[in-house]
Amino acid sequence: MAERLAGARERALSDPKGYWGEAARAIDWFKPAEEILDTSNPPFYRWFVGAETNVCHNALDRHVAAGRGDQAALIYDSAMTGKVRSYTYAELTDAVARLAGALAQLGVEKGDRVLIYMPMVAEAAMAMLACARLGAVHSVVFGGFAATELKTRIEAAKPKVILAASCGLEPGRIVPYKPLLDAALAMATHKPDACLILQRPEALADLGPKDHDWAKLVAGASPAACVPVKATDPLYILYTSGTTGIPKGVVRDAGGYMVALVWSMKNIYGIEAGEVMFTASDVGWVVGHSYIVYAPLLAGCTSVLYEGKPVGTPDAGAFWRAIQQHKVKALFTAPTAFRAIKKEDPTGSLLKNYDLSHFKTLFLAGERCDPDTLHWAEKLLKVPVVDHWWQTETGWPICANCVGLDPLPVKPGSPTTAVPGWDVQVLDENRQPAKPGEIGALVIKLPLPPGALPTLWQNDEGYQRSYLADYPGYYKTGDAGFIDEDGYVFVMSRTDDLINVAGHRLSTGQMEEVLAGHPDVAECAVMGVADTIKGQVPLGLMVLKAGVSRDPAEIAREAVALIREKIGPVAAFKTAIVVKRLPKTRSGKILRGTMQKIADAQDWKMPATIDDPAILEEITDSLRMIGYANRT
Ligand code: COA
Ligand code: AMP
Repeated sequence: MAERLAGARERALSDPKGYWGEAARAIDWFKPAEEILDTSNPPFYRWFVGAETNVCHNALDRHVAAGRGDQAALIYDSAMTGKVRSYTYAELTDAVARLAGALAQLGVEKGDRVLIYMPMVAEAAMAMLACARLGAVHSVVFGGFAATELKTRIEAAKPKVILAASCGLEPGRIVPYKPLLDAALAMATHKPDACLILQRPEALADLGPKDHDWAKLVAGASPAACVPVKATDPLYILYTSGTTGIPKGVVRDAGGYMVALVWSMKNIYGIEAGEVMFTASDVGWVVGHSYIVYAPLLAGCTSVLYEGKPVGTPDAGAFWRAIQQHKVKALFTAPTAFRAIKKEDPTGSLLKNYDLSHFKTLFLAGERCDPDTLHWAEKLLKVPVVDHWWQTETGWPICANCVGLDPLPVKPGSPTTAVPGWDVQVLDENRQPAKPGEIGALVIKLPLPPGALPTLWQNDEGYQRSYLADYPGYYKTGDAGFIDEDGYVFVMSRTDDLINVAGHRLSTGQMEEVLAGHPDVAECAVMGVADTIKGQVPLGLMVLKAGVSRDPAEIAREAVALIREKIGPVAAFKTAIVVKRLPKTRSGKILRGTMQKIADAQDWKMPATIDDPAILEEITDSLRMIGYANRT
């Protein structure tokens, strides 16, 4: 019987103050909380009110003080350059303190925002920690976004300083970041006081009057001390796709996040201080924030920060090489990475070249884990494979097989059961609890546990509207699914227009806004269609304005280029076609869901409200011509 898990779950829900108050003992507080959970202003709940702390102190300095100074804290492993560099806790503390000193010299103070636009280099983690040291609020922007997306995030966070690298490295190409940053700044109404640029030898950047050379400034800076912040002060803002072109600024507060992350390292991931975690994601995503940077360091572990891909850098054994070299205990990545490895090396033949004796668990998240991938990974690695479900908003897993508590039998397709602290329920369309097995909206009863978003950046109203208004008393995850008789949660699909491409969350609505801006396009629809590696990829259908006689293939190529220019390569938008008409309901709503089912050759029903059924036949023909809508 899973007694420890059941006990923890029962206690975390019936006595959240007691449960998380005890968990908070794992953190150093400069001043203890006056109230563990403030429930006086629902639906806004705050954890560890009145407490003072510093996240960087907890992630670095206190471990040095406790004797971990010589232990590796961060291992930067670049499969792109072949460079590996390990930083001990003492070295990382020193580097971060100096970088914080450089930021302070540029005028950064507690509460100021700092934008970080960097590839997967150790300095990206240092930048986040240096902000935390000063009590500044970081906003990391993923490197695969275009200048316009960067501009939107600059305008939203209004950073005092921007930290960037001269370039990122993608297989076969160097991505110069500085021109993208300059383009974003030229468009933005907000201008930072300064930019600190890390010069990478692969492509040096031209520095302007407001730009500082990272190495030079840091070399001359004095180390800065940790600035006490309130537990409820924001540690970071992380923008994530919403249903429109305006991303949502998810706020993460300092105290609750630390408590939740440290708890999760032991109880979910089964990793103790001194052990090695390798999270193959990107610092630009929540997974990177939580499990490349903060959680492993807060827990006194060693984190591997990997610049490269699972395949092609140099081959499908890239992860096995890193696991062997750094004696990794747990790997965390998205199922898409395993689908990519499986495609290149279906029999897993490369694995036999490596010693994975330290490797104990594979964790997968970011998208639904298809049973094929789960079974393939289990068979190959012969270790437990844990599918776990979470979101940018939640900051840490909602559902998981808790390796450090009582692992449960795996049900393929399910991220197992709710993690202690999360009261996950399924509500039907009348907002009533659904029966076991019945699909409905996956919601979480308020208050959310520590670590989850307290609000959106300077937008309490948007927070309520997006997450709390539809199901009063609950947080709406935006996912649909069901809970079975045994309490296993199955996450089936999104209830909005978000799609998941290679574990990255993207808005089809935003892509439609971009396509609609093409001068020849009258209307359009973008939907997520199935992809064997990336899970889903976007596909665009465009109706041209009357009188446009240009070559449709040319317009489709322009549409693909436009999305890359306006959203970025991360959108993975490679296919657009011109169609005569789009199928709609009689009230004019485009039938995206039906078209997606047709494209994926799934069973579909003629919608009762369709205006003109003949259009679906035209669409089917068009989709067949580009290789979709074919039953195999
Ligand atoms: N900077 C600039 N460009 C970037 C980038 C970055 N940081 N990250 C990705 N891109 C580009 C890629 O080069 C690619 O460009 P292309 O269209 O010119 O080929 C495009 O964005 C799409 O990237 P992606 O969808 O990641 O595809 P990929 O072919 O480069 O890699 C996988 C596919 C599956 C190998 C990769 O997505 C992966 O390893 N995913 C698993 C880990 C992960 O990211 N998880 C996220 C949440 S846990
Ligand atoms: P993001 O905020 O980018 O992390 O994306 C969160 C979304 O990814 C969730 O709302 C889900 O739709 C999806 N997701 C993440 N993990 C899983 C999982 N284990 N199973 C199913 N869907 C997942």
